[in-house]
Amino acid sequence: MKILLFGKNGQLGWELNRTLMCLGELIALDYPELNFEKPKDVINIINQIKPDLIVNAAAYTNVDKAEEEPDKARLINAETPGEMARWCKKNNAVIIHYSTDYVFDGTKGSPYTEDDQPNPINIYGETKLAGEVAIQQSEAIHLILRTAWVYSMRGNNFVTKVLEWTQKSDVIKVVDDQISNPTWARALAEITADVIAMGIENIRSFFSIKGGLYHCAGSGYCTRYDWARLIVDKFHKERKTKIAPAKTNDFPTAARRPFCSALDCGKFSQVFKICLPRWDKIVI
Ligand SMILES: NC(=O)c1ccc[n+]([C@@H]2O[C@H](COP(=O)([O-])OP(=O)(O)OC[C@H]3O[C@@H](n4cnc5c(N)ncnc54)[C@H](OP(=O)(O)O)[C@@H]3O)[C@@H](O)[C@H]2O)c1
Repeated sequence: MKILLFGKNGQLGWELNRTLMCLGELIALDYPELNFEKPKDVINIINQIKPDLIVNAAAYTNVDKAEEEPDKARLINAETPGEMARWCKKNNAVIIHYSTDYVFDGTKGSPYTEDDQPNPINIYGETKLAGEVAIQQSEAIHLILRTAWVYSMRGNNFVTKVLEWTQKSDVIKVVDDQISNPTWARALAEITADVIAMGIENIRSFFSIKGGLYHCAGSGYCTRYDWARLIVDKFHKERKTKIAPAKTNDFPTAARRPFCSALDCGKFSQVFKICLPRWDKIVI
């Protein structure tokens, strides 16, 4: 099986580049050798490679900057993935794509299931939702995994930010009114590989039956404040950094964030019989 991975240098793509290697011939690409702002170039590359499976971990993920660059975010998160999915439909290939808890407005008050109506409150969420819809409308065989609060020791994420703040200050303020599921990039990459392995004998027929849209994030959920406490406990026990609870409104940002966008991942674990570890089992 020929697998084409996009976004190989991102948090998730970095991990996928390692885990997908075991499953077939893997070709992994990223910006700037390939630019999702140029969909025709992307399709030309796909045409040369002719993969059986595309795994798309590339995305415009800067939530605040997306407010200033909506067209760019839409091209990268929705239009190019849509073109890729249409290529898959024409060429009988499968596409795996990732989306976000930020497709929801965060007002439900309990974890969102796949049946809940998305209502994004920022441009990033809008463009990611448009990407999901473009893939679904292409009628390509697909697996879309909505995930949340992705972290690793690489890149710019909440874990690396908290560790950076603790270097600079003995007291850090963290919001206690945003709730979701911290998701370790490596575990998400591994579970993606596990699911592909389940269908490896006939990837097309497997995902025609089991594909679709799923929530797939760290089990359980917490506030950013709880998460920061866990990070400090794990990595900086000796420093005794104090964490003070704060509110989202204390930190004005360009993009609004949903308050409670936690995902219910029950459907994924029911169908595939596996789930991601609990958010508080940080093992990095
Ligand atoms: N991070 C989160 O908390 C989070 C939460 C929910 C869902 N997700 C979703 O999970 C997936 C993986 O996220 P991640 O955290 O691994 O993202 P990431 O670390 O930001 O990686 C995204 C990758 O896409 C690349 N990229 C950006 N612009 C591109 C372009 N024009 N053409 C081609 N590639 C481009 C980036 O390259 P450069 O670094 O060079 O720009 C980077 O390698 C995404 O679909 C994201 O929407 C993430």
